[in-house]
Amino acid sequence: MHIEVIKKQFNDKFGDPAGEVYASPGRINLIGEHTDYNGGFVFPGAIDKGMVAVIRRNGTGRVRAWSVDLQDYAEFTMEESDRPEASWARYIFGVCREMVKRGAQPGGFDTAFAGDVPLGAGMSSSAALESTYAFALNDMFSLGIDKFELARIGQATEHNYVGVKCGIMDQFASLFGKAGHLIRLDTRSMEYKYFPFHPEGYRLVLLDTAVKHELASSAYNKRRESCEHAARVVRENGHPGVEFLRDVTMDMLNEVKEKLSEEDFKRAEYVVGETTRVLAVSDALERDDYETVGRMMYLTHDGMSRLYEVSCEELDFLNDVAKECGVTGSRVMGGGFGGCTINLVKEDLYEGFLAKAKAQFAAKFGHEPKVYEVVISDGARRID
Ligand code: GLA
Repeated sequence: MHIEVIKKQFNDKFGDPAGEVYASPGRINLIGEHTDYNGGFVFPGAIDKGMVAVIRRNGTGRVRAWSVDLQDYAEFTMEESDRPEASWARYIFGVCREMVKRGAQPGGFDTAFAGDVPLGAGMSSSAALESTYAFALNDMFSLGIDKFELARIGQATEHNYVGVKCGIMDQFASLFGKAGHLIRLDTRSMEYKYFPFHPEGYRLVLLDTAVKHELASSAYNKRRESCEHAARVVRENGHPGVEFLRDVTMDMLNEVKEKLSEEDFKRAEYVVGETTRVLAVSDALERDDYETVGRMMYLTHDGMSRLYEVSCEELDFLNDVAKECGVTGSRVMGGGFGGCTINLVKEDLYEGFLAKAKAQFAAKFGHEPKVYEVVISDGARRID
């Protein structure tokens, strides 16, 4: 991330004096996929790629924003009717609006920003953007909003200004990340625990298919609807205490099998399995048992592919190559519909696996997957 480039373009656009600099990262997730909107557990960590923004209060009610990556400018007030056209600017506008809706009053500002989270790779570039501005505005205008609420502001931005009915994982990870630690979060109670993550003898690497499916957000929202419907049907059939699929066991789900479409049943079956896998992984991590972690990752991939149907040919291919190479764990990461696999690989297999994955993927799909080494890093912060 070239902070100097952002500062220079800020200065070219908006003149002196210099602004303040804030950053917020993307995230990985070891396990617990599509569990966050089902009241379940997730296991993310912030990464060393993210968004950086230079911001300066401008004493007006207006926001003037420059995207360094897109070389695009937007200007708006914080009135609902002033929603900007450009989708990138909606994220910033959404954060401002969600703050205003909560009774906070950020003032106008000038800003330039850029990021190095690969777009569409399932590493949450959008949460990084939301968290950067949520964190920065809260700090600069002394709004007194706690970090949980900042995460909810980012999430509500997705719901209300982007159209993705996401859970809280990405924004939470971006705000609460801690170098060298994964975080197990209970998305119902919002209790969380940091787990030091230094898997001795293993490496964690992402392979990016560079595939991004267009209808990902509507497909995502549809998955969520299936889950909410399944939970409701279980609740209404003898289990009034069920709030989310997190509360449902396979036995309870089987009781209502006839009342659910085949599709909704499969979606719910995946989530019920994933909830137990996250807990198995968190126990395994306490014992440094990475073989169990890896086994759970493969099971998650299988569920995401066959039952939740958010994988794709390219991701399944990379998962198969990982298996053939004896990689400890591998699975599609994030929402799915393209993006990355996350791989837990023994040191001595690492180079061989990468070489094989690149060559075989290129032979089949015409380009190599991109490789990102995972460095687990700190969450949102002011850096200058
Ligand atoms: C996206 C969403 C998250 C989560 C994941 C899947 O990243 O933003 O809330 O649901 O997909 O685990």
